[in-house]
Amino acid sequence: MTTQLSAEYHWQLLPASMVSNPAPEIWICSLKAPVAEIAGNKWLKLQSALQQRQPGQGILSFGGAFSNHLAALAAAGHHYNFPTIGIVRTDHLDQQNPTLKRCQAFGMQLKALNRDSYRQHQQTEFLNSLKISYPHYLIVPEGGSDQAGAWGVRTLPLQQTPAGAADLLCCATASGGTLAGIIHQHPTIRCLGLAVVKDSSLPQRVNACLPSDEIFNNWSIAQARSGYGKLSADLIAFCCQLKREYNISTEPVYTGKALHLLIELITKGALANVKRVAFFHTGGLQGLHGLHYRQQLTAEQYQLLAAESAMI
Ligand SMILES: Cc1ncc(COP(=O)(O)O)c(C=O)c1O
Repeated sequence: MTTQLSAEYHWQLLPASMVSNPAPEIWICSLKAPVAEIAGNKWLKLQSALQQRQPGQGILSFGGAFSNHLAALAAAGHHYNFPTIGIVRTDHLDQQNPTLKRCQAFGMQLKALNRDSYRQHQQTEFLNSLKISYPHYLIVPEGGSDQAGAWGVRTLPLQQTPAGAADLLCCATASGGTLAGIIHQHPTIRCLGLAVVKDSSLPQRVNACLPSDEIFNNWSIAQARSGYGKLSADLIAFCCQLKREYNISTEPVYTGKALHLLIELITKGALANVKRVAFFHTGGLQGLHGLHYRQQLTAEQYQLLAAESAMI
């Protein structure tokens, strides 16, 4: 099946008042996908699977109970009319979980897999047994991050800000596919993954998404202070400030945490020679519903952060 690859890109300059002086310009690049619910990096990372899928074939993938990737895949299945299965890392499927509700509303079949079993999901034996159980499904890895997923990111024009070429390209990084795609597309530009997970294997995961016959030495990873999904009051206040003062929509798990880290690095002087940063807004705003549901955001914070943004 072929889908249109084109998405629209919008650029927004982060107001200089958010960063201490002297600071590089920070341009935020958001992607408006032809299918609104396949937001941010998901639109790009799913392109290859959408194109590889044979007529009559479904797509099966993996994710946590609040996974942006599963939410986007479910939307793709609904929009392009193919079946989807989501293997969810959870003991039981909470019917009130807003992300899982959304997946089911889009027709995704959900299967719970406890944490221990879920750890095997990348192992060949486990994948082979899934292929036998679901012969009519294309299997896509967690987060859509493999070489095929990274391939889809090649169309992202991240270096071309409205003010001219950026000399640092960055994005929130978790499973590594998005960063790999950016690195591959811009081999001579400095790329920085802003890691929102604590995962010592992340550099290997990024490498695994890059062609093994080429060497890329244009990239590095910076680590956020807190682990995946850990939200400090400071971080939430930062996301609220971005929204309240500049109408920049973020959520604190991925894009907000990554931008917060970027500003921290700039303030510390770690990016002293950079003139212009391009930050890819990877989407993920559907996750705000789940943060509110788990009471990680107050009602006021949720209303502010989720307001007037197309919930992508
Ligand atoms: C909103 C959002 N931003 C960033 C990422 C990280 O992207 P990657 O897993 O390709 O490193 C994810 C996870 O896929 C995400 O959902």
